[in-house]
Amino acid sequence: MQNKISQYTAEINAFQSAHAEEIETFRIRFLGSKGIIKDLFEEFKTVSSEEKRIMGKVLNELKQLTEAKYQSLKEGLNTVTETFKTEADLTLPGQGIELGSRHPISLVRKEIIEIFKKLGFNVTEGPEIEDDWHNFSALNFPEEHPARDMQDTFFVSLNPTLSKGEGEEAFALRTHTSSVQVRMMENGQPPFRAIMPGRVYRNEAISARAHCFFHQVEGLYIDENVSFADLKQTLFYFVKELFGDDTKVRFRPSYFPFTEPSAEMDISCTICKGTGCPLCKQSGWVEILGCGMVDPNVLENCKIDSQKYTGFAFGMGIERITNLKYQIKDLRLFSENDIRFLQQFQSELI
Ligand code: DAH
Repeated sequence: MQNKISQYTAEINAFQSAHAEEIETFRIRFLGSKGIIKDLFEEFKTVSSEEKRIMGKVLNELKQLTEAKYQSLKEGLNTVTETFKTEADLTLPGQGIELGSRHPISLVRKEIIEIFKKLGFNVTEGPEIEDDWHNFSALNFPEEHPARDMQDTFFVSLNPTLSKGEGEEAFALRTHTSSVQVRMMENGQPPFRAIMPGRVYRNEAISARAHCFFHQVEGLYIDENVSFADLKQTLFYFVKELFGDDTKVRFRPSYFPFTEPSAEMDISCTICKGTGCPLCKQSGWVEILGCGMVDPNVLENCKIDSQKYTGFAFGMGIERITNLKYQIKDLRLFSENDIRFLQQFQSELI
Protein backbone atom coordinates (compact mmCIF):
# COMPACT_ATOMS: atom_id res chain seq x y z
CA MET A 1 0.00 0.00 0.00
CA GLN A 2 2.87 2.31 0.88
CA ASN A 3 4.34 1.75 -2.56
CA LYS A 4 1.09 2.44 -4.35
CA ILE A 5 0.69 5.72 -2.44
CA SER A 6 4.18 6.92 -3.38
CA GLN A 7 3.52 6.00 -7.03
CA TYR A 8 0.22 7.89 -7.12
CA THR A 9 1.80 10.89 -5.36
CA ALA A 10 4.44 11.10 -8.06
CA GLU A 11 1.83 10.68 -10.80
CA ILE A 12 -0.43 13.41 -9.36
CA ASN A 13 2.45 15.83 -8.94
CA ALA A 14 3.54 15.26 -12.50
CA PHE A 15 0.08 15.60 -14.03
CA GLN A 16 -0.46 18.73 -16.12
CA SER A 17 -3.25 19.59 -18.49
CA ALA A 18 -5.08 22.58 -19.91
CA HIS A 19 -7.91 20.54 -21.34
CA ALA A 20 -11.22 20.31 -19.57
CA GLU A 21 -11.80 16.70 -20.63
CA GLU A 22 -8.42 15.47 -19.37
CA ILE A 23 -8.93 17.26 -16.07
CA GLU A 24 -12.33 15.65 -15.68
CA THR A 25 -10.84 12.21 -16.37
CA PHE A 26 -8.23 12.94 -13.70
CA ARG A 27 -10.98 13.82 -11.22
CA ILE A 28 -12.96 10.67 -11.93
CA ARG A 29 -9.86 8.46 -11.77
CA PHE A 30 -8.69 9.79 -8.40
CA LEU A 31 -11.63 11.49 -6.67
CA GLY A 32 -14.65 9.76 -8.23
CA SER A 33 -16.98 7.53 -6.18
CA LYS A 34 -15.19 4.47 -7.57
CA GLY A 35 -11.86 6.25 -7.77
CA ILE A 36 -8.39 5.43 -6.50
CA ILE A 37 -8.63 7.41 -3.26
CA LYS A 38 -11.89 5.68 -2.35
CA ASP A 39 -10.28 2.26 -3.08
CA LEU A 40 -7.27 3.09 -0.95
CA PHE A 41 -9.51 4.01 2.00
CA GLU A 42 -11.29 0.65 1.56
CA GLU A 43 -7.96 -1.14 1.54
CA PHE A 44 -6.90 0.90 4.59
CA LYS A 45 -9.67 -0.78 6.62
CA THR A 46 -7.98 -4.17 6.12
CA VAL A 47 -4.42 -3.32 7.26
CA SER A 48 -3.05 -4.03 10.72
CA SER A 49 -3.60 -1.48 13.42
CA GLU A 50 0.14 -0.80 13.62
CA GLU A 51 0.23 0.01 9.90
CA LYS A 52 -2.95 2.14 10.27
CA ARG A 53 -1.12 4.65 12.46
CA ILE A 54 1.33 5.50 9.69
CA MET A 55 -0.95 4.90 6.72
CA GLY A 56 -3.84 7.07 7.99
CA LYS A 57 -1.69 10.20 7.87
CA VAL A 58 -0.12 9.38 4.50
CA LEU A 59 -3.47 8.55 2.95
CA ASN A 60 -5.08 11.79 4.16
CA GLU A 61 -2.16 13.75 2.73
CA LEU A 62 -2.64 12.06 -0.62
CA LYS A 63 -6.34 12.94 -0.61
CA GLN A 64 -5.57 16.61 0.15
CA LEU A 65 -2.88 16.73 -2.51
CA THR A 66 -5.28 15.35 -5.12
CA GLU A 67 -8.03 17.80 -4.24
CA ALA A 68 -5.62 20.75 -4.32
CA LYS A 69 -4.25 19.62 -7.66
CA TYR A 70 -7.71 19.30 -9.12
CA GLN A 71 -8.65 22.83 -7.88
CA SER A 72 -5.57 24.43 -9.35
CA LEU A 73 -6.05 22.64 -12.69
CA LYS A 74 -9.61 23.93 -12.83
CA GLU A 75 -8.59 27.52 -12.05
CA GLY A 76 -5.92 27.36 -14.71
CA LEU A 77 -8.57 26.26 -17.13
CA ASN A 78 -10.74 29.35 -16.40
CA THR A 79 -7.87 31.78 -16.96
CA VAL A 80 -6.97 30.04 -20.16
CA THR A 81 -10.53 30.29 -21.45
CA GLU A 82 -10.76 33.96 -20.52
CA THR A 83 -7.51 34.84 -22.21
CA PHE A 84 -8.71 33.00 -25.23
CA LYS A 85 -12.00 34.93 -25.19
CA THR A 86 -10.30 38.32 -24.98
CA GLU A 87 -8.05 37.44 -27.86
CA ALA A 88 -11.03 36.31 -29.89
CA ASP A 89 -12.76 39.69 -29.23
CA LEU A 90 -9.75 41.54 -30.50
CA THR A 91 -10.36 40.18 -33.95
CA LEU A 92 -13.85 41.70 -34.06
CA PRO A 93 -14.39 45.24 -35.37
CA GLY A 94 -14.46 47.81 -32.53
CA GLN A 95 -17.70 49.25 -31.27
CA GLY A 96 -18.00 52.91 -32.26
CA ILE A 97 -18.69 55.50 -29.56
CA GLU A 98 -21.97 57.16 -30.34
CA LEU A 99 -21.99 60.89 -29.67
CA GLY A 100 -25.23 62.47 -28.60
CA SER A 101 -26.45 65.88 -29.65
CA ARG A 102 -27.91 68.75 -27.69
CA HIS A 103 -31.67 69.04 -27.42
CA PRO A 104 -32.89 71.92 -29.61
CA ILE A 105 -34.41 73.65 -26.56
CA SER A 106 -31.03 73.51 -24.77
CA LEU A 107 -29.31 74.85 -27.88
CA VAL A 108 -31.58 77.85 -28.21
CA ARG A 109 -31.61 78.45 -24.45
CA LYS A 110 -27.84 78.60 -24.56
CA GLU A 111 -27.85 80.92 -27.57
CA ILE A 112 -30.24 83.31 -25.81
CA ILE A 113 -28.10 83.29 -22.66
CA GLU A 114 -24.92 84.01 -24.64
CA ILE A 115 -26.50 87.06 -26.28
CA PHE A 116 -27.66 88.58 -23.01
CA LYS A 117 -24.36 87.77 -21.32
CA LYS A 118 -22.69 90.12 -23.82
CA LEU A 119 -24.97 92.88 -22.49
CA GLY A 120 -23.91 92.15 -18.91
CA PHE A 121 -26.90 90.03 -17.83
CA ASN A 122 -26.31 87.34 -15.19
CA VAL A 123 -28.16 84.03 -15.21
CA THR A 124 -30.28 82.96 -12.22
CA GLU A 125 -32.87 80.28 -11.60
CA GLY A 126 -35.76 79.68 -9.23
CA PRO A 127 -37.95 76.78 -8.04
CA GLU A 128 -40.56 75.11 -10.25
CA ILE A 129 -42.98 74.64 -7.36
CA GLU A 130 -43.98 78.14 -6.30
CA ASP A 131 -46.19 79.73 -3.70
CA ASP A 132 -49.03 82.07 -4.58
CA TRP A 133 -47.01 85.13 -3.54
CA HIS A 134 -44.12 84.63 -5.96
CA ASN A 135 -46.16 83.39 -8.90
CA PHE A 136 -49.10 85.83 -8.58
CA SER A 137 -49.59 88.22 -5.67
CA ALA A 138 -46.19 89.93 -5.64
CA LEU A 139 -46.53 90.36 -9.40
CA ASN A 140 -49.62 92.47 -8.88
CA PHE A 141 -52.19 89.81 -9.76
CA PRO A 142 -54.97 90.81 -7.33
CA GLU A 143 -56.83 88.02 -5.43
CA GLU A 144 -59.78 86.76 -7.50
CA HIS A 145 -58.78 89.03 -10.37
CA PRO A 146 -59.52 87.53 -13.79
CA ALA A 147 -55.87 88.09 -14.74
CA ARG A 148 -55.08 84.90 -12.78
CA ASP A 149 -57.17 83.00 -15.30
CA MET A 150 -54.81 84.13 -18.06
CA GLN A 151 -52.75 81.16 -17.02
CA ASP A 152 -54.41 77.88 -16.18
CA THR A 153 -52.59 76.67 -13.14
CA PHE A 154 -51.67 73.23 -11.82
CA PHE A 155 -52.07 73.50 -8.06
CA VAL A 156 -49.97 71.29 -5.82
CA SER A 157 -51.16 70.07 -2.47
CA LEU A 158 -48.50 69.24 0.09
CA ASN A 159 -51.20 67.64 2.19
CA PRO A 160 -53.30 65.42 -0.11
CA THR A 161 -56.19 65.20 2.38
CA LEU A 162 -56.90 68.94 2.06
CA SER A 163 -58.24 70.66 -1.01
CA LYS A 164 -57.21 74.16 -2.06
CA GLY A 165 -58.29 76.88 0.34
CA GLU A 166 -58.76 74.56 3.31
CA GLY A 167 -56.41 76.28 5.70
CA GLU A 168 -53.39 75.44 3.65
CA GLU A 169 -51.08 77.71 1.71
CA ALA A 170 -51.54 77.18 -2.03
CA PHE A 171 -48.58 75.92 -4.00
CA ALA A 172 -48.52 75.61 -7.76
CA LEU A 173 -46.25 74.57 -10.57
CA ARG A 174 -45.06 77.99 -11.70
CA THR A 175 -46.98 79.25 -14.69
CA HIS A 176 -44.19 81.60 -15.79
CA THR A 177 -40.61 82.48 -14.94
CA SER A 178 -41.68 85.96 -13.78
CA SER A 179 -41.75 84.42 -10.29
CA VAL A 180 -37.95 84.36 -10.38
CA GLN A 181 -37.91 88.18 -10.79
CA VAL A 182 -39.65 88.47 -7.44
CA ARG A 183 -37.22 86.11 -5.74
CA MET A 184 -34.31 88.04 -7.18
CA MET A 185 -35.60 91.46 -6.10
CA GLU A 186 -36.55 90.23 -2.63
CA ASN A 187 -33.06 88.93 -2.05
CA GLY A 188 -31.01 91.97 -2.95
CA GLN A 189 -30.88 95.62 -3.89
CA PRO A 190 -30.61 97.17 -7.38
CA PRO A 191 -28.99 97.29 -9.82
CA PHE A 192 -30.33 94.00 -11.19
CA ARG A 193 -29.52 92.78 -14.64
CA ALA A 194 -30.36 89.13 -15.07
CA ILE A 195 -32.03 86.55 -17.23
CA MET A 196 -33.85 83.57 -15.75
CA PRO A 197 -34.41 80.50 -17.89
CA GLY A 198 -36.62 77.64 -16.74
CA ARG A 199 -39.50 75.26 -17.23
CA VAL A 200 -43.07 76.40 -16.66
CA TYR A 201 -46.39 74.55 -16.50
CA ARG A 202 -49.94 75.27 -17.62
CA ASN A 203 -53.07 73.18 -17.48
CA GLU A 204 -53.63 72.96 -21.21
CA ALA A 205 -54.68 70.16 -23.52
CA ILE A 206 -51.62 68.90 -25.41
CA SER A 207 -51.69 69.66 -29.13
CA ALA A 208 -49.34 70.74 -31.91
CA ARG A 209 -49.60 74.33 -30.63
CA ALA A 210 -49.90 73.95 -26.84
CA HIS A 211 -48.31 71.81 -24.15
CA CYS A 212 -48.74 71.43 -20.41
CA PHE A 213 -45.10 72.34 -19.89
CA PHE A 214 -42.68 74.49 -21.84
CA HIS A 215 -39.68 76.76 -21.28
CA GLN A 216 -39.28 80.46 -20.83
CA VAL A 217 -36.53 82.99 -20.41
CA GLU A 218 -37.32 85.95 -18.21
CA GLY A 219 -35.31 89.17 -18.27
CA LEU A 220 -35.08 91.87 -15.64
CA TYR A 221 -33.18 95.15 -15.60
CA ILE A 222 -33.63 97.50 -12.63
CA ASP A 223 -31.52 100.59 -11.94
CA GLU A 224 -31.84 104.36 -11.66
CA ASN A 225 -33.15 106.06 -14.81
CA VAL A 226 -33.97 102.97 -16.84
CA SER A 227 -36.49 103.86 -19.55
CA PHE A 228 -38.57 102.22 -22.25
CA ALA A 229 -35.85 103.26 -24.72
CA ASP A 230 -33.41 100.96 -22.88
CA LEU A 231 -35.93 98.14 -23.13
CA LYS A 232 -36.30 98.67 -26.88
CA GLN A 233 -32.59 98.87 -27.57
CA THR A 234 -31.87 95.74 -25.53
CA LEU A 235 -34.51 93.75 -27.39
CA PHE A 236 -33.50 95.15 -30.81
CA TYR A 237 -29.97 93.96 -30.16
CA PHE A 238 -31.21 90.56 -29.05
CA VAL A 239 -33.37 90.03 -32.15
CA LYS A 240 -30.61 91.05 -34.57
CA GLU A 241 -28.14 88.73 -32.86
CA LEU A 242 -30.51 85.78 -32.83
CA PHE A 243 -32.36 86.12 -36.13
CA GLY A 244 -30.06 88.31 -38.23
CA ASP A 245 -29.68 92.01 -39.08
CA ASP A 246 -32.49 92.17 -41.61
CA THR A 247 -35.14 91.11 -39.07
CA LYS A 248 -37.74 93.83 -38.44
CA VAL A 249 -39.19 94.45 -34.99
CA ARG A 250 -42.42 96.07 -33.82
CA PHE A 251 -44.06 96.65 -30.43
CA ARG A 252 -47.81 96.43 -29.79
CA PRO A 253 -49.43 97.78 -26.62
CA SER A 254 -50.56 94.93 -24.35
CA TYR A 255 -51.47 94.15 -20.77
CA PHE A 256 -49.63 92.30 -18.02
CA PRO A 257 -50.40 92.91 -14.34
CA PHE A 258 -46.71 93.27 -13.48
CA THR A 259 -45.67 95.83 -16.11
CA GLU A 260 -46.94 99.30 -16.95
CA PRO A 261 -46.86 100.15 -19.78
CA SER A 262 -46.79 96.67 -21.29
CA ALA A 263 -46.11 95.55 -24.82
CA GLU A 264 -45.82 92.48 -27.00
CA MET A 265 -42.99 92.33 -29.45
CA ASP A 266 -43.30 90.92 -32.96
CA ILE A 267 -40.58 90.19 -35.47
CA SER A 268 -40.91 89.93 -39.24
CA CYS A 269 -41.77 86.33 -40.10
CA THR A 270 -38.61 84.23 -40.31
CA ILE A 271 -40.11 81.97 -42.97
CA CYS A 272 -41.63 84.37 -45.53
CA LYS A 273 -39.58 87.43 -44.49
CA GLY A 274 -42.75 89.45 -44.11
CA THR A 275 -44.57 88.67 -47.34
CA GLY A 276 -47.18 86.42 -45.69
CA CYS A 277 -47.33 82.62 -45.11
CA PRO A 278 -49.31 80.12 -43.00
CA LEU A 279 -46.90 80.45 -40.04
CA CYS A 280 -47.57 84.19 -39.65
CA LYS A 281 -51.19 83.75 -40.74
CA GLN A 282 -50.41 85.93 -43.78
CA SER A 283 -49.65 88.92 -41.55
CA GLY A 284 -45.89 88.95 -42.08
CA TRP A 285 -45.33 89.25 -38.29
CA VAL A 286 -44.90 86.74 -35.45
CA GLU A 287 -45.10 87.51 -31.75
CA ILE A 288 -42.05 86.43 -29.75
CA LEU A 289 -42.27 88.01 -26.31
CA GLY A 290 -44.07 90.08 -23.71
CA CYS A 291 -42.39 93.02 -21.99
CA GLY A 292 -42.85 96.30 -20.21
CA MET A 293 -41.70 98.66 -17.48
CA VAL A 294 -41.87 96.93 -14.10
CA ASP A 295 -44.99 98.15 -12.29
CA PRO A 296 -44.10 100.28 -9.20
CA ASN A 297 -46.38 98.01 -7.13
CA VAL A 298 -44.14 95.07 -7.94
CA LEU A 299 -41.03 97.00 -6.89
CA GLU A 300 -42.69 97.99 -3.61
CA ASN A 301 -43.86 94.40 -2.99
CA CYS A 302 -40.20 93.43 -3.18
CA LYS A 303 -39.09 96.27 -0.85
CA ILE A 304 -37.49 98.32 -3.60
CA ASP A 305 -37.91 102.09 -3.63
CA SER A 306 -40.04 102.79 -6.71
CA GLN A 307 -39.30 106.53 -6.51
CA LYS A 308 -35.61 105.89 -6.94
CA TYR A 309 -35.55 102.87 -9.23
CA THR A 310 -37.24 101.93 -12.48
CA GLY A 311 -36.69 99.01 -14.79
CA PHE A 312 -37.96 96.76 -17.50
CA ALA A 313 -38.83 93.08 -17.76
CA PHE A 314 -39.51 90.70 -20.58
CA GLY A 315 -40.45 87.06 -20.97
CA MET A 316 -40.27 84.74 -23.96
CA GLY A 317 -41.05 81.12 -24.72
CA ILE A 318 -38.01 79.11 -25.80
CA GLU A 319 -40.14 76.62 -27.79
CA ARG A 320 -41.60 79.48 -29.82
CA ILE A 321 -38.17 80.89 -30.65
CA THR A 322 -36.93 77.39 -31.53
CA ASN A 323 -39.94 76.82 -33.81
CA LEU A 324 -39.10 80.02 -35.65
CA LYS A 325 -35.40 79.27 -35.94
CA TYR A 326 -35.81 75.68 -37.09
CA GLN A 327 -39.32 75.77 -38.57
CA ILE A 328 -40.71 73.12 -36.26
CA LYS A 329 -44.46 72.93 -36.59
CA ASP A 330 -45.43 70.57 -33.78
CA LEU A 331 -44.58 71.36 -30.13
CA ARG A 332 -44.97 67.72 -29.14
CA LEU A 333 -41.74 66.83 -30.97
CA PHE A 334 -39.77 68.52 -28.19
CA SER A 335 -40.86 66.04 -25.55
CA GLU A 336 -41.28 62.79 -27.49
CA ASN A 337 -37.57 62.00 -27.56
CA ASP A 338 -37.69 60.66 -31.10
CA ILE A 339 -34.05 60.12 -31.88
CA ARG A 340 -34.57 60.87 -35.60
CA PHE A 341 -35.78 64.35 -34.65
CA LEU A 342 -33.10 64.99 -32.03
CA GLN A 343 -30.19 63.83 -34.19
CA GLN A 344 -30.74 66.74 -36.56
CA PHE A 345 -29.47 69.27 -34.04
CA GLN A 346 -25.70 69.06 -34.09
CA SER A 347 -23.93 72.09 -32.79
CA GLU A 348 -20.54 73.63 -32.31
CA LEU A 349 -21.71 74.88 -28.91
CA ILE A 350 -21.24 71.47 -27.23
N1 DAH B 1 -44.94 86.15 -17.77
C1 DAH B 1 -45.50 86.41 -19.07
C2 DAH B 1 -46.08 85.13 -19.65
O1 DAH B 1 -45.82 84.07 -19.16
C3 DAH B 1 -44.44 86.90 -20.02
C4 DAH B 1 -43.95 88.26 -19.63
C5 DAH B 1 -44.61 89.36 -20.13
C6 DAH B 1 -42.88 88.40 -18.79
C7 DAH B 1 -44.19 90.63 -19.80
C8 DAH B 1 -42.43 89.68 -18.45
C9 DAH B 1 -43.11 90.78 -18.98
O2 DAH B 1 -41.41 89.89 -17.66
O3 DAH B 1 -42.67 92.00 -18.63
O4 DAH B 1 -46.82 85.18 -20.58
